[in-house]
Amino acid sequence: MKFRKTEALKGEVTIPGDKSISHRAVMLGAISRGTTRITNFLRGADCLSTIACFRKMGISIEEFPEEILVHGNGLHGLHAPTDILDVGNSGTTARLISGILAGQSFESTLTGDASICRRPMKRIITPLSMMGADVKSLRENGCAPLAIRGSRLQGIHYESPVASAQVKSCVLLAGLYADKETSVTEPYISRDHSERMLASFGADIKTENCTVTIQPEPKLTGQDVAVPGDISSAAYFIAAALLVPGSELLIKNVGINPTRDGILGVCRRMGADIAILNKREHGREPVADLLVRHSALKGTVIEGAEIPTLIDELPVLAVLAAFAEGRTVIRDAQELKVKESNRLDILVHHLSAMGADVTGTEDGMIIRGGRPLHGAVLESHLDHRIAMSFAVAGIAAKGETEILQADCVDISYPGFYRDLLER
Ligand code: S3P
Repeated sequence: MKFRKTEALKGEVTIPGDKSISHRAVMLGAISRGTTRITNFLRGADCLSTIACFRKMGISIEEFPEEILVHGNGLHGLHAPTDILDVGNSGTTARLISGILAGQSFESTLTGDASICRRPMKRIITPLSMMGADVKSLRENGCAPLAIRGSRLQGIHYESPVASAQVKSCVLLAGLYADKETSVTEPYISRDHSERMLASFGADIKTENCTVTIQPEPKLTGQDVAVPGDISSAAYFIAAALLVPGSELLIKNVGINPTRDGILGVCRRMGADIAILNKREHGREPVADLLVRHSALKGTVIEGAEIPTLIDELPVLAVLAAFAEGRTVIRDAQELKVKESNRLDILVHHLSAMGADVTGTEDGMIIRGGRPLHGAVLESHLDHRIAMSFAVAGIAAKGETEILQADCVDISYPGFYRDLLER
């Protein structure tokens, strides 16, 4: 896929549903009683993997153009899977479903694509084993494939060494099947969609500072879930409108949950003109329309507690920083090394290939922005967020940028190139 400088981005765009919330709606729907009706469900490859896994455990899930219906079987209604559970490229499916599988009375095997089989699973094996589940990395390398023998679990208090919503959610979901309450403390607060949705399905769950506590064996009841637009997908349009001169773009129906909206604060610090309009609630999630105008940007520091609130937006923020005047420092972002690809190394490589002045560090990078960027031929490494971030770089840089294996964007945003280019 090839990119050149584009015209100003004008008018409106409505981006697809939130990936994290779509996954969770299927999972909670499957273990609740009654029907969960999901609108604006993200039909990306990752969320379709979640649907496929629950169908293999006997859950009836109907797909219609306007909605998805999940006919739940209750907390103890899953059947032993008829086959290996294949999560594809989806870390969220792998880690969250493992929490549910740990509490079942059957054994299951879970695998995924080459990227999933390199990503760290010890971070969930450790707490699930403390709770009494038998979880084995079949290649004994701390990664998938995993064999999970579930059992009646023990409630624990878990101090997670990483601020990870996938780890936190895995432990909380296992906590539904425990003998007493389970709590998780993380170093910084990560996205809280699981907590919000578990509460709305009927779980007894409380958050105090960085600790979440859940009571076991709730009566979960199917709900209507209206999924907000994904701020992680909106991020590419925010960046494109900020970078392309003359742009004024209204991005409609974007989830602005405070545990996810770090990109807005960072862009504002960089000098971005972003207005938050029509703020409202969708179920338990805050939503707004974002009006973004082309802006002159300057460098900033991104670190600490802000990192989990924009973890998936760091690639496109690094692109923005390369176009901004002055120094941007990204710290405390070592988690980027264990995403769908090693995003730290790839960002440094790709930005350098486009002519940016960037130095990788142990846990981030330093970008001395403001040099004119030029086109380059870039591997996506089958990482959707790398492909979309450099598509944005490509429409703002001089000359032609080519992204190889660009259709990996289907993981989280089928139709991305059409929305970006054919507006
Ligand atoms: C996600 C949590 C984040 C994020 C991922 C989705 C989730 O991962 O990067 O894309 O839905 O819980 P970590 O929890 O590993 O940081």
